[in-house]
Amino acid sequence: MAQINDNYLKLKTGYLFPEIARRVKAFQEKNPKAPVIRLGIGDVVLALPKAVIKAFREAVDEMAEPLTFHGYGPEQGYPFLIEAILSNDFKPRGVSLKATEIFVSDGSKCDTGNIQEIFSLKNRVAVIDPVYPVYVDTNIMAGRTPLIYMPATAENNFDPDLPKKKADIIYLCSPNNPTGGAMSRTSLKKWVSYAKKNKAIILFDAAYEAYISDPSLPHSIYEIDGAKEVAIEFRSFSKTAGFTGTRCAYTVIPEGLKGVDKKGKRIALNPLWLRRQTTKFNGVSYPVQRAAAACYTPEGKQEIRELVDYTMENARLIREGLSSLGLEVYGGVNAPYIWLKTPRGTGSWSFFDKLLTETNVVGTPGAGFGPAGEGYFRLSAFGFKEKVEEALERIRTRLKI
Ligand code: MLT
Repeated sequence: MAQINDNYLKLKTGYLFPEIARRVKAFQEKNPKAPVIRLGIGDVVLALPKAVIKAFREAVDEMAEPLTFHGYGPEQGYPFLIEAILSNDFKPRGVSLKATEIFVSDGSKCDTGNIQEIFSLKNRVAVIDPVYPVYVDTNIMAGRTPLIYMPATAENNFDPDLPKKKADIIYLCSPNNPTGGAMSRTSLKKWVSYAKKNKAIILFDAAYEAYISDPSLPHSIYEIDGAKEVAIEFRSFSKTAGFTGTRCAYTVIPEGLKGVDKKGKRIALNPLWLRRQTTKFNGVSYPVQRAAAACYTPEGKQEIRELVDYTMENARLIREGLSSLGLEVYGGVNAPYIWLKTPRGTGSWSFFDKLLTETNVVGTPGAGFGPAGEGYFRLSAFGFKEKVEEALERIRTRLKI
């Protein structure tokens, strides 16, 4: 009899978002006429930018002709995309990286989930709680438990203290999913210096950096001196340019970034990830990489700006709408998520049921992101403006706060 990976039995029943979808489906089966509005999962709704579609189509046409057809691409991604990433996402911020330090991939969820494979099971992993569940679940699947949870709540301004127990790997997400805050330069410096002192590695998820509106906030961890020696950064086209269904992202692993083997010898992480990716992944399709590169054309940049502005206008409406009802609301200024305190200490899942039943609006219970998320609730600003307005109107008129 084949034996299973017992670590899977330590996971909570289902991954958060399918679990929410299951509950909503059950509700809809009982209430088929209920006009449900989904502000739960952070999924984009607007069409891909025209510049992206144009490049995508042209690349598909290339695939139709023997002379311009592409088979397997270069392992780390096509140079046209990597060069566009380096000169648009990093150079203007004073960050100089090499092409070999970029790994184009099919998503930050996959990359933040898979990266732990290149690290020993002995590492102590720290996460800020509430947390994007992928960081936790993938470490549980690997058997790297218990994790160090660092609670981020309104009381500590969602900026937790450094861990009391020494951590070897630290996941940071800024702008933050789910709390909707963003780390200041001072806070990031604190983590970089902790990592240097403790020889730890920071896994920095910057999937939402396009949503930063405050010019004083860093977009990349490499804007902090010394970060190249301690951090891996994850970026995505999903939330920036509407690629959740198209799939393209990238991960940065500076060549100078090192861990140690069991004898204490320093080993570079970049070749380990290259080995992992070339063994288990065959890259992102040529048309999708062409589509992603079009995000960096002047037209692409302009259209992406408009997409981001559209979502952030929703965020403003939600933030201000809920605050005006007397709710305690966070986030939604530098991130497309609004994090609210459930009224009168209602449990997160109870509030989920209440909101769904009384207003037919779907959100995400804070407890689904970790113990410190209990008593909080997340609303996503991704959605059509009319639906957001309708959801707010229903909350205003129907929710018994
Ligand atoms: C979320 O809603 O937290 C995200 O959409 C999940 C993801 O990006 O995988």
